[in-house]
Amino acid sequence: MNLVFLGPPGAGKGTQAKRLAQELGLVHISTGDILREAVKNQTPLGKKAKEYMDRGELVPDELIIALIEEVMPPGGGVIFDGFPRTIAQAQALDRMLEKKGMKVDRVVLFDVPDDVVVERLSGRRVCPNCGAVYHIKFNPPKNDEICDRCGTKLVQRDDDREEVVRNRLEVYRKQTEPLIEYYERKGILIRLDASKDIEDVYQELKKVVST
Ligand code: AP5
Repeated sequence: MNLVFLGPPGAGKGTQAKRLAQELGLVHISTGDILREAVKNQTPLGKKAKEYMDRGELVPDELIIALIEEVMPPGGGVIFDGFPRTIAQAQALDRMLEKKGMKVDRVVLFDVPDDVVVERLSGRRVCPNCGAVYHIKFNPPKNDEICDRCGTKLVQRDDDREEVVRNRLEVYRKQTEPLIEYYERKGILIRLDASKDIEDVYQELKKVVST
């Protein structure tokens, strides 16, 4: 099964993808996580991507498509989180899967209003060492601002600053929302009310991907 998680920044795609991938034995591919790691390690991809990410713009399609080609497991079984984000990326993914005799089976649209997005992103804290994600109010670490898993001090993502968040939302509306119609036409889009709490969203998600 190949799943795509679609939705605005901060909708909870990454939080749910990690857990579902573990439970269903799927591979979690988050283009955002891969790009942040590349920026941290100052790889050629990271150096090219950084300026776009800092502004909340999309990294060019050709870089993202080449990246997916590199990390795609031969047998599929993937949750794509934050990819595709443009029609060109969606078409490239269709072609890549088709060559292997596979397809996107379901696309889950994480539906949340803008005010919820802003609250989630402003309270998000991440571990710069192991990548764990927390929220100061909705999913706090056991000890204030310290990662439960590895004990590192948590930080705020650079692109979670208010002005960048506003631009990310605008970019989502213009460049990514057209994918809703693209997948609706294929009859594989499922809308999920992602404004509920983390556990409720997870239970609903499990139901919709197994029907
Ligand atoms: P990326 O990292 O993909 O950012 P995003 O799509 O904006 O998604 P986020 O990671 O911000 O949010 P999320 O939906 O995963 O929410 P999370 O689970 O963390 O991309 C970053 C940048 O990389 C882009 O701007 C772009 O530049 C570039 N990029 C990446 N992919 C690209 C592509 N395909 N093409 C071009 N460029 C690309 O949750 C958010 C917070 O809310 C957390 O604190 C969490 O604890 C909390 N939370 C989660 N669920 C709930 C809940 N149900 N109730 C309460 N709180 C919750």
